[in-house]
Amino acid sequence: MPIQIKRHLIILAILIAAFVVFQQLMIPESFGELGHYRANSLEDNELFDIHYAGQESCYECHEDISDLKEMDLHYDLSCETCHGPGTDHNLSPDSVELFIPDDRNFCGLCHAKNTARNEDAVFQIELKEHNPDKNCTYCHNPHAPWELRNQDPQEENF
Ligand code: HEC
Ligand code: HEC
Ligand code: HEC
Ligand code: HEC
Repeated sequence: MPIQIKRHLIILAILIAAFVVFQQLMIPESFGELGHYRANSLEDNELFDIHYAGQESCYECHEDISDLKEMDLHYDLSCETCHGPGTDHNLSPDSVELFIPDDRNFCGLCHAKNTARNEDAVFQIELKEHNPDKNCTYCHNPHAPWELRNQDPQEENF
């Protein structure tokens, strides 16, 4: 074998050995014990506080609202989508109040006309034109949006 190839092979062998040593040093403890990830990360994640309780936990105390919501088009929205994380409220409902949205822009987050949004997925209204003088919840029950409030059939809007 020509001498220059031999030298290159030696350099290559040194590089590979250096890579293997470096790789072994960099692999975190517990990597691969359960899969292609750090098994200890499960314990790390357990340490995070839980903020969202899941909506089944709300049913226990707010059955009437939960039943109402099931029957109308907001059935798919979780309570905490609008009221925010509820774990603390579940533990002490009398002292921890949840957020109650009361602003047209909040409903507009999902319903305001936006050409980038699929019309079939969520019905969109022109926020500035759809009954602009009143809050959405003046007319729509947020838990059952087609249960209209304060609607006089004689009124122009209806
Ligand atoms: C689309 C957003 C939205 C969702 C989803 C939602 N809420 Fe509400 N919630 C509101 C708004 C807005 C109010 C303010 C009162 C109103 O206008 O009726 C409210 C009021 C309330 C109140 C105060 C009492 C009352 O009726 O005014 C309770 C309790 C409540 N919601 C519980 C729930 C529970 C439990 C769920 C899930 C089953 C839920 N909400 C889902 C928007 C929402
Ligand atoms: C252990 C019973 C209990 C559970 C579980 C519970 N609530 Fe409540 N909630 C109450 C009581 C009682 C009130 C009334 C407190 C008051 O009038 O000051 C209340 C009031 C509310 C209100 C009105 C605003 C406020 O904070 O006063 C909202 C909104 C609400 N709950 C949403 C929720 C959501 C969302 C969940 C699920 C994540 C939930 N609740 C779970 C008992 C409960
Ligand atoms: C997180 C997104 C989200 C928020 C916030 C939200 N909605 Fe909805 N809304 C939906 C979805 C999803 C539907 C069911 C699909 C549809 O019909 O648009 C719906 C349906 C509706 C409908 C029936 C439309 C129809 O197609 O017949 C009305 C009315 C409505 N929402 C009003 C409101 C009001 C008022 C608020 C604020 C209190 C609100 N929504 C907040 C997602 C949202
Ligand atoms: C003055 C009462 C009133 C107010 C305030 C109001 N709405 Fe409506 N909304 C209605 C009525 C009535 C309809 C059905 C007739 C129509 O489409 O205009 C409707 C229809 C809708 C629809 C379905 C549109 C469709 O094409 O089927 C959505 C979504 C909606 N409203 C969301 C909202 C949101 C979000 C707000 C607040 C930004 C709001 N509404 C404020 C009375 C109201």
